[in-house]
Amino acid sequence: MTEDELFLTAVLNCSRSELFTHPVTLDHKQQELLGTMRRRRSAGEPVQYICGFTEFMGYRIEVGPGVLVPRPETEILVDAVIEESRRHQGQGLSVLDIATGSGCIPIALVRGIPACKVAGVDISGEALSFARRNSDINGVSGRIDFIERDVFWFMDETKHHFDIVTANPPYIPSAMIPELPEDVRREPALALDGGADGLHFYRYIVPGALRLLKSGGLLALEFGDGQRKDLENLFAITGGWDKIRFIKDNAGRDRVVLAYKHTNQYFK
Ligand SMILES: C[S@@+](CC[C@H](N)C(=O)[O-])C[C@H]1O[C@@H](n2cnc3c(N)ncnc32)[C@H](O)[C@@H]1O
Repeated sequence: MTEDELFLTAVLNCSRSELFTHPVTLDHKQQELLGTMRRRRSAGEPVQYICGFTEFMGYRIEVGPGVLVPRPETEILVDAVIEESRRHQGQGLSVLDIATGSGCIPIALVRGIPACKVAGVDISGEALSFARRNSDINGVSGRIDFIERDVFWFMDETKHHFDIVTANPPYIPSAMIPELPEDVRREPALALDGGADGLHFYRYIVPGALRLLKSGGLLALEFGDGQRKDLENLFAITGGWDKIRFIKDNAGRDRVVLAYKHTNQYFK
């Protein structure tokens, strides 16, 4: 969809196909709204903030200042987790989604995995208010528990054990943030900044997930360009992981890693 088509679907509250199958006539108010949207876009605001929503795996996800816009790459992580979950024989998988943001990952997982329940943790109350609204809109609020907490504390404190841990943490190296396109810089720095080399969160999540996962449990992480080698090293140094598999995005870049907690792992 072009940006203008997106704006039109938002102004007319219709789908893209309706845009092409029905004659488009805008009344005065709608024309003004479209003009305002175009001006906001020229001033550098993300298209999805202006429309107020985006689509993630076909689900409507509301977004605005204070929350990261879900990216198509993250659908690769969700698809892979849903696929892996089909091998699980038991009922009612429990999932922890770290750095949950808009709630896009938990929402797509509970819709894709029968009877699973998800806890989504994020430090940002603003992001979580979008996440709660999004889980309502998509009819899954009873199956997701959103927790406002610094993940570093949460991982130390929680006594729960999960079948699956997912995370798309901030992974942009701090020095690269000022060089990002204007619209990306309008998204919260908290959602982007992964520390000096972008790996700050992974250094904590990879060993920490061993304590949180059940034996044989799955860890699924999204990561940034050029970070695969460092992640391979991190998994190797940490130990306790099996069947580590990297998945590429549509541009052929390594984007997601899956790893299973070793069944004879010492930490339980
Ligand atoms: C890259 S965004 C991912 C959002 C969402 N999972 C997605 O894929 O669109 C990272 C998220 O991490 C959160 N975050 C940053 N630091 C955190 C921390 N110390 N503890 C918990 N969440 C944190 C941010 O608020 C942001 O929502």
